Amino acid sequence: MTRAISLHDVSKTYTRGVRVVDRLSLDIRPGEFLVLLGPSGCGKSTVLRMIAGLEEITEGRLLLDGEHSNDLLPSERNMAMVFQNFALYPNMTSRGNIGFPLRVEHPGEDPRPRVDATARMLGIEDLLDRFPSQLSGGERQRVAMGRAIARHPSAFLMDEPLSNLDAKLRNHLRAEISKLTRELGVTTVYVTHDQAEAMSLGDRVAVLRGGVLQQLDSPRMVYALPRNVFVAAFIGTPRINLLRGLVRAPLDGAMTISLGKQFLRLPEPLSLDHQLLRVQQGREVIVGLRSEAIRIAKHSSARPGEVALTGLVEHVEFQGHEILVHFNTGSQPAVVPDLEAPRPASRPPRRRGGPTVLERLRDRAGALRAGPVVVMDDPAVPTFTEARLPGDLVVRTTPDIELRHGMQVPLLVDIAHLFVFDQHGERICPAPARLPDLEN
Ligand SMILES: Nc1ncnc2c1ncn2[C@@H]1O[C@H](COP(=O)(O)OP(=O)(O)OP(=O)(O)O)[C@@H](O)[C@H]1O
Ligand SMILES: [Mg+2]
Repeated sequence: MTRAISLHDVSKTYTRGVRVVDRLSLDIRPGEFLVLLGPSGCGKSTVLRMIAGLEEITEGRLLLDGEHSNDLLPSERNMAMVFQNFALYPNMTSRGNIGFPLRVEHPGEDPRPRVDATARMLGIEDLLDRFPSQLSGGERQRVAMGRAIARHPSAFLMDEPLSNLDAKLRNHLRAEISKLTRELGVTTVYVTHDQAEAMSLGDRVAVLRGGVLQQLDSPRMVYALPRNVFVAAFIGTPRINLLRGLVRAPLDGAMTISLGKQFLRLPEPLSLDHQLLRVQQGREVIVGLRSEAIRIAKHSSARPGEVALTGLVEHVEFQGHEILVHFNTGSQPAVVPDLEAPRPASRPPRRRGGPTVLERLRDRAGALRAGPVVVMDDPAVPTFTEARLPGDLVVRTTPDIELRHGMQVPLLVDIAHLFVFDQHGERICPAPARLPDLEN
């Protein structure tokens, strides 16, 4: 029986009152493939381990098929976990490894029929008599999957199961995992920090940052309507262009968003989303432009809804089927912290007597907010003249265009694809579906 997994306001605190998972609520439907996505250290494995029962839940409730399950032993949850590092018993053959949980759980039964059926499903019949040291990484991971599948668990919990494999094998096994879990119809929670993997596998993707859920949606929605700058920047390659802008909405003239040396003129009549931007008059915002929103073309060839910019070619990245052109448009990129956070350094050793009250409060407040999703006034942000990054705007184009460093190139921006985020990094254009109740 595949099962529904629900987390209600689940938090995890390891030490010193720091919440590494902060009031997380998720309803995972039976048979659903849910991906937990986020940068290193954001709490993905901790969430998975709490679902598995390997880690205690500090606060909140875990419901399995609607039943309160915080205190169930891992063995009572009937879930199978697959880890990054294969974790096979080195002294057992593949057959022994796949059959091991069956022998433990059903001591009187012959595990062979189930092991054989599982091996057929995974195409590893030829490998059953080999030891792990005689298998490649991909083969080992298949055996590990076999061990999880053979038990007929009610849920799969997978923690970056493919990250030790090379890119080709990863793509191949990714497709296999997707096919298998769908065929078996078993609820799957899959952890990864690879957005492409998340997008290709998940029915829904839960994006985490600093232990806080940022968005839970289908891959299509997290890409098309990211709730904030962090989600927008974490999902999609090349990364969305995020530029600091200033809204200018004079009563008697065209509405524009200034980008430093140039501006985007919003086409008239203003769309409803752009009309709502009027209230931002005079405020700093963040403009988000995915590379598909921009094309290299003469300004005179603009289609309705396209506005003109000019870019100075800083760098050209040849990718084979396309090129990525890094332009300098004279704007300032916005900084999004935590995007590719390195594995957090270990905390400084504790002083005698433990943390002060002030430290505890600061840690707690920090964990609750997980910090701003965007930095607008960071002095470290390079300005137009001293930009060290190659350009501020990346545009994708076909490889037949001849572009050289230092060329001034006309660009057209499709305003229908414009994202605007407020100073806190929350998306304000397109407007969030549920507008705040104006009467309150
Ligand atoms: N046993 C522990 N004791 C104290 N802190 C821990 C423990 N396990 C994890 N942490 C901390 O909790 C946070 C979340 O860790 P977790 O392993 O869940 O992150 P993750 O998202 O899986 O990261 P990665 O992508 O690197 O695997 C990190 O800051 C980590 O240092
Ligand atoms: Mg992890």
